[in-house]
Amino acid sequence: MTGKLMELDHVSRTFPVGNLRVRAVNNVSLAIERGEILCLVGESGCGKTTTGRIVAGLLKPTAGRILFEGRDIWAMDDKGFKGYRKAVQIVHQDPYASLNPVHSIYKILSAPLFRHGLAVTQQEAQIKIRELLQIVDLTPPEEFLDKYPHQLSGGQRQRISVARALTVNPRFIVADEAVSMVDVSIRVSLLNMLSRLKDQLGVTFLFITHDLALAKYFAWEGRIAVMYLGCIVEVAATPRLINDPSHPYSRALLSALPEADPELTRTKKRVVLRSLDVPSLLDLPSGCTFHPRCPQFREGLCERQAPELAQIGDNRYVACHLVAPGMAS
Ligand SMILES: Nc1ncnc2c1ncn2[C@@H]1O[C@H](COP(=O)(O)OP(=O)(O)OP(=O)(O)O)[C@@H](O)[C@H]1O
Ligand code: SF4
Ligand SMILES: [Mg+2]
Repeated sequence: MTGKLMELDHVSRTFPVGNLRVRAVNNVSLAIERGEILCLVGESGCGKTTTGRIVAGLLKPTAGRILFEGRDIWAMDDKGFKGYRKAVQIVHQDPYASLNPVHSIYKILSAPLFRHGLAVTQQEAQIKIRELLQIVDLTPPEEFLDKYPHQLSGGQRQRISVARALTVNPRFIVADEAVSMVDVSIRVSLLNMLSRLKDQLGVTFLFITHDLALAKYFAWEGRIAVMYLGCIVEVAATPRLINDPSHPYSRALLSALPEADPELTRTKKRVVLRSLDVPSLLDLPSGCTFHPRCPQFREGLCERQAPELAQIGDNRYVACHLVAPGMAS
């Protein structure tokens, strides 16, 4: 079955900072199809984690709606919302911080099973946990049950975080920089394991990363949404975005991406930004918020009007006056 599973409908989130408000997520609309991988990519502080936490139901948007199978999650009754929180799991960047260091792997994985009535006896929990450890490639499972997080490598700990997310049979996983902290050498096997979950268990992914190379690898068959200062500036199928980026910011990100061939990386033409400084979220630039850095800035237009995210092709959206003229908010 295909169709929209998750929809962000004009979602914004602000945080109070002294007398001001930080606009971390600004009017984001996105739809994620069942079984799809959508990668959210952007520089540090652009609002990726805030978006992920909103999608996981951990943070309420200050404006806009999150629709899951067409239902507004913040209008659900208690039972419905609990079901949503079970269906949507989040895997964080730092498994050290998210796994209780004094609990064994068995305890970490059995707790949600008992809490949600998915296992009643210790024996049922053991069977289920062995299955989960196998799914995340921690074999033989009995070698891990009595261990503690500090006795595992970074990659193994992240696999336990994924196994814990899987205990409640989620339909949607928000993976927030889930492989960023592990060694490069084991990143690929972790990414392959996550890809397998999509195929084997039909899990839909919001994959959050600051690293376009990871997005390219993990979501080649999915889509990438590029975020800048809380706004989505481009959405496209991954091969299209990588091979033919439309938004000047996407172009700049792509031009900084290293190539497999070092000679190609050395000779690659870099997009030169007008400024390297990222503006403060507390004092956003007028008009298009990328205008102080954009090499294609058009005076009299870009600093005056904010471009809307407009469809420019099949499943392709861009927020730029030059790419999608006439779409201003
Ligand atoms: N609870 C909070 N209170 C105040 N400001 C916050 C809060 N959470 C996030 N912010 C601010 O919102 C902005 C977006 O933060 P967020 O963590 O979503 O960015 P990010 O894209 O995930 O960054 P990174 O790549 O560094 O993880 C930042 O300026 C951050 O300081
Ligand atoms: S609207 Fe103007 S400033 Fe913004 S990305 Fe497009 S060309 Fe650059
Ligand atoms: Mg983050």
